[in-house]
Amino acid sequence: MKSLLIKNIGTLASAYSRAPRMLCGRQMNEVPMLTDAWLAIDGERISDFGTMDSCPDEAGFRQVIDASRSWVLPCFCDSHTHLVYAGSREGEFRDKIAGLSYEEIARRGGGILNSADLLNDTSEEELLNTAARRLRQCAASGTGAIDIKSGYGLTYEGELKMLRVIRRLKQMFPMIAIRANFLGAHAVGRAFNGNQKGYVDMLVDQLLPQVAEEQLADFVDVFCDKGFFTTEETDHILKAAAKYGIRGKIHANELDVSGGVQVGVANGCLSVDHLERMTDAEIACLASTLSGGKHTTIPTMLPGASFFLGIPFGKAREAVDAGLPLALASDYNPGSSPSGSMRFVWSLGCIKMRLTPEEAFNAITVNATAALGLEDEYGAIFPGAAASVILTEPIPSLAYLPYAYTEPLIKRVILRGTSLC
Ligand code: NIG
Ligand code: FE
Repeated sequence: MKSLLIKNIGTLASAYSRAPRMLCGRQMNEVPMLTDAWLAIDGERISDFGTMDSCPDEAGFRQVIDASRSWVLPCFCDSHTHLVYAGSREGEFRDKIAGLSYEEIARRGGGILNSADLLNDTSEEELLNTAARRLRQCAASGTGAIDIKSGYGLTYEGELKMLRVIRRLKQMFPMIAIRANFLGAHAVGRAFNGNQKGYVDMLVDQLLPQVAEEQLADFVDVFCDKGFFTTEETDHILKAAAKYGIRGKIHANELDVSGGVQVGVANGCLSVDHLERMTDAEIACLASTLSGGKHTTIPTMLPGASFFLGIPFGKAREAVDAGLPLALASDYNPGSSPSGSMRFVWSLGCIKMRLTPEEAFNAITVNATAALGLEDEYGAIFPGAAASVILTEPIPSLAYLPYAYTEPLIKRVILRGTSLC
């Protein structure tokens, strides 16, 4: 007997016979839809789907949900977050309103270092509790897979503390696919003020071996940008991590055309993220990873940070028109994007980046999932996929979701076969 049948679905969106894995350029404008549908779930996985004229016998299921014309979508994937943090930074929010830039706040010792001070004064238990609360909120708003970074410890112990919290989140929330990302190179820790080389040496020679030993990281990240880490330092850290089999997903080109895209691509990073500043050279460099047997590096843009900081939005339209597989993520963090709402990211993708509702939807599902290496299981509805789906209120079309951007339209979230509410 199977576990769950969802019947009378108005439209089943992103329904494939097998995993789509990644969508490039024009393919991003397609979302396969089935109207008047059913979806069968067996344990944690989708087993099958079809139209109501071929609906299986309800007697073969332990539970039946009548969707009453609601839409069913795959859960969102948030492929870039920093949701483990202590305290909050609304003081800097005031500074920004008064006219200070992100870089000016960082130069005054605010920004990331401010969060690091708070984090190093906070117990592992308290960090876990606040992060778990945020993660629950993300899941309730439709996120079923997520990247979570360290990077607010900036000391040997602080970074390990963050990564251990992320490991405990994985244990607490087995129904959410969580990927841990070691971002020791987020800023130079205060103890190494004026000694950036010493800090990078500590990361590479002491911290990374311990992170690898305890298997605390699925990925490594570096903030490769003006005023933070150079391309040489980024290259050094990525190569050191590769020796432990840890692949990069890095921050690049938020504050400047930093060379981060090129160093990320050269090191086979799974994604390069932010990209608020990008020229034709970066687009060509990313396009070069689509062929020739190389690993594809997925450009990931974070419109929530552009919105909050008032910096340029990434050139998403140009990236898609150049044939790239674009992903969008929330960048959920206390300093530049205090929101993990993927519906808001979807709306910003449409309103501010001129992506179609279908392109932006694929950017937060199929392609974001590929940017976490989870494409065999997540990102779309297909037999064998994780049964992580969203049921909406009845809506007239897919575009209604990013259009009516504050309307509470998510009725129910199912994560690996288990209903959240
Ligand atoms: O992705 N850009 C670097 N890191 C974060 C911001 C972190 C912070 O300000 O606390 C980001 O936007
Ligand atoms: Fe970030």
